[in-house]
Amino acid sequence: MRVWLVGRDVARLEATAREVDAAGGRASVVRADLTVDGDVAAVVDAVCAETDGLDVLVHAAGVAVADAGPSPTAGEIAAHHAVNATAPAQLTAGLRSLVVARRGLVMVVNSVAGLRDAPGFHAYAGSKHAARAWADSLRAELDGHGVRVCSLYPTQVATPMQEAICVARGAPYEPDPLLQPEDLVAIVGFVLDHPGFEVTDLSVRSARVSS
Ligand SMILES: NC(=O)c1ccc[n+]([C@@H]2O[C@H](COP(=O)([O-])OP(=O)(O)OC[C@H]3O[C@@H](n4cnc5c(N)ncnc54)[C@H](OP(=O)(O)O)[C@@H]3O)[C@@H](O)[C@H]2O)c1
Repeated sequence: MRVWLVGRDVARLEATAREVDAAGGRASVVRADLTVDGDVAAVVDAVCAETDGLDVLVHAAGVAVADAGPSPTAGEIAAHHAVNATAPAQLTAGLRSLVVARRGLVMVVNSVAGLRDAPGFHAYAGSKHAARAWADSLRAELDGHGVRVCSLYPTQVATPMQEAICVARGAPYEPDPLLQPEDLVAIVGFVLDHPGFEVTDLSVRSARVSS
């Protein structure tokens, strides 16, 4: 596949690009802070300059920080909303015609916190509930265009985000029993490979046990 990798950490994106290239794909790195309007526009420009169709748009960027106090501050709410809810909506708006052209898939990596309560993570949960509402509205708007919109709701995944949450709580970080990033990649691949049906919402939790 032709792949555009978007984020702020160019070195890490380039390492991933090399893996895509080694697997026979072709990857480009687009450095962007998705909370900056001009950066989002630059991503759209970079993709539109090279293609007129997208098979899949994966929204995986996210932030999750525990509320500093019993209620989230306006700054905490805004910071979570910017990455977790506004960025996917804006990026999709810019690339929407390309996804429609290919009858593509919009995959939104949400969280179990987008479905239910998340004590101590009010700002995070609020942004993820907003992302779910946006994805539901997008799906309704695109009904009849052949575009599929899937929200994915994982429990804890073994990533730097989860490690940072454990460190902040003073809890041990034990990645092995958690969902692994590869599990979510497998789900995206499965949904992508089955265009005959639409998975609208998918909750996933680990089936691994501590050794
Ligand atoms: N880890 C979990 O337990 C868990 C559970 C449920 C759902 N999720 C969701 O899974 C998704 C991925 O999270 P993760 O666990 O992989 O977190 P992570 O390890 O902290 O990685 C976050 C990713 O988001 C990108 N990102 C953050 N802010 C950005 C910004 N302003 N502009 C562009 N990119 C930005 C980062 O890229 P750069 O640093 O390169 O910008 C990085 O690739 C998130 O939506 C998260 O809410 C995670």
